[in-house]
Amino acid sequence: MSRKKTHSKPTEFHSKPTEFHSKPTEFHSKPTEFSRKSFVFNGVFLLIRIKNKNVAENVPFREHSAVSILVSVAEFNRTHTSMNDTNNLPPTIDLADLVSVFVADTNDAAAAKASKRPRGVITGLTKLDQHFGGYLAPGIHVVQAAPGCGKTAFALQTASDAVYPALFVSAEMGVLELFRRLIARQTRTFLGRLKSGEISGQQAENLARQTVQKLTHLRIMDATRAPASPKLIIENAGRLREKFQSDHVLIVLDSLHVWARGAARAENNSIDTDEYSLINNALSSVASIASILNCPVITIAHRNRAGNKADGGLHSAKGSGGIEYEAESVLDLNKKDGPDNAGGETEITAKLEKNRNGAAGVFVKLAFNGALQTFTEL
Ligand SMILES: Nc1ncnc2c1ncn2[C@@H]1O[C@H](COP(=O)(O)OP(=O)(O)OP(=O)(O)O)[C@@H](O)[C@H]1O
Ligand SMILES: [Mg+2]
Repeated sequence: MSRKKTHSKPTEFHSKPTEFHSKPTEFHSKPTEFSRKSFVFNGVFLLIRIKNKNVAENVPFREHSAVSILVSVAEFNRTHTSMNDTNNLPPTIDLADLVSVFVADTNDAAAAKASKRPRGVITGLTKLDQHFGGYLAPGIHVVQAAPGCGKTAFALQTASDAVYPALFVSAEMGVLELFRRLIARQTRTFLGRLKSGEISGQQAENLARQTVQKLTHLRIMDATRAPASPKLIIENAGRLREKFQSDHVLIVLDSLHVWARGAARAENNSIDTDEYSLINNALSSVASIASILNCPVITIAHRNRAGNKADGGLHSAKGSGGIEYEAESVLDLNKKDGPDNAGGETEITAKLEKNRNGAAGVFVKLAFNGALQTFTEL
C-alpha cells in the first residue's frame, strides 16, 4: 500500500495551546483562504497534536475517550492512503481494521453510561436528548422556525447547558443583547428589566458576574462585526476544546443564511451569486467544520415562505435543497397560536423532521418563557 508523505509543515494552527481569545478583535481582517483540503489537514494535525500534548505534559490520556478514538481514527486514516494524500482520495478500509476502533467506541459508551456523563453535547432537555440518541452526534443539526419563534433562545440555551465547551457564532445579534439574554435566563431576571433603567449599576454587575461564573465554558464569536471564516471558527473551537481538555465541543451558527454572506467574503468568494449557491457553499463549509472537529454544529436556518405558511416541514429551509440532506437532524420549532399563558409562557412544539440517530417525526412539547429566555419541557 503506498503511503504518501504527509505535510511536514504543521499548518496554521498554533503549535502551543494558547489562551482562547474572547475579544472580537481577534478576527483576521484579511480574507483567509479556505479549502476543504486544508480543513482536513488541519483537523488531522489538531487531533494528533491533542494526543501529543497529553503525552508531553504527562496528562493521563484516557484510552477510551472520544478523543483517543478520534486520534486513532486520524492515525488510521493517515496510514491508509490517507486523508493527507495530496490527491485527497478517500481511503479504502479493511473491515478488520475497524474492529479495535469499534471496541474502543463501545468501551467509551459503557464508561459514559457508568459515569452518567453524556457521551457528547446535549440540549439539556431530557426527552429531546433521548430522541437525539442521548447526545448530539457530530454533524449538522438544523434548527428552523418562523421569525421570532425562539431559534436564538433555543440555541443559546443549548450552548449554555451543553455540559461541554461551546462556541456561539452570532451573525445576527450583537453580543450585548446575547449577554442580556444569558443573564435573564441564568439569574431568572426578566429581560425587560435588564434594559429599563430600573436596576442599579451594582445590581447589574452582580447579575453579570453570576452569569459569567455559571457559563465559563461558553464563548461568543461576534460575526456581526466582521466575517467569521470557517478556518477561524475551527481554530477557536479547537482551542476552546483544548483549553478545557474536553473531548467535545459544540458550535452554534446563528444563522446559516446571514453567516453565509460573511463567510463567502472571508474566503474571497463572490457574494454576488444567487442565494442557492451561497447557501450551498456555506453548508459545505459547515459540513467541513463538523467533520474536522468531529463535533455537532447547531445551524439555525431561516424558513422559506411556503415553510412558514405550512408550519415547517423537512424541505422548508430557505435557499437550498441541500440542508435537509446534509443534516444529522432537522428540528422544527412551531409556536402555538394565541397569547402567552398567565406565567408568560407560550407553547412550542419541537418536531424532529429528520433524525439520523433516532426516530424521525417525533415531537416534544416545550414551554418558552420569552422574558426569561427559557425553554422547559411540558
Ligand atoms: N423582553 C422580552 N419579554 C418577553 N419576551 C421577550 C422579550 N424579548 C424577547 N422576547 C421573546 O423572545 C422571542 C424572540 O426569540 P428569539 O430572538 O430567540 O427568536 P428567533 O426565532 O431567533 O427570532 P429571529 O427570527 O428574529 O432571529 C420573541 O418572539 C419574544 O417572544
Ligand atoms: Mg434569532
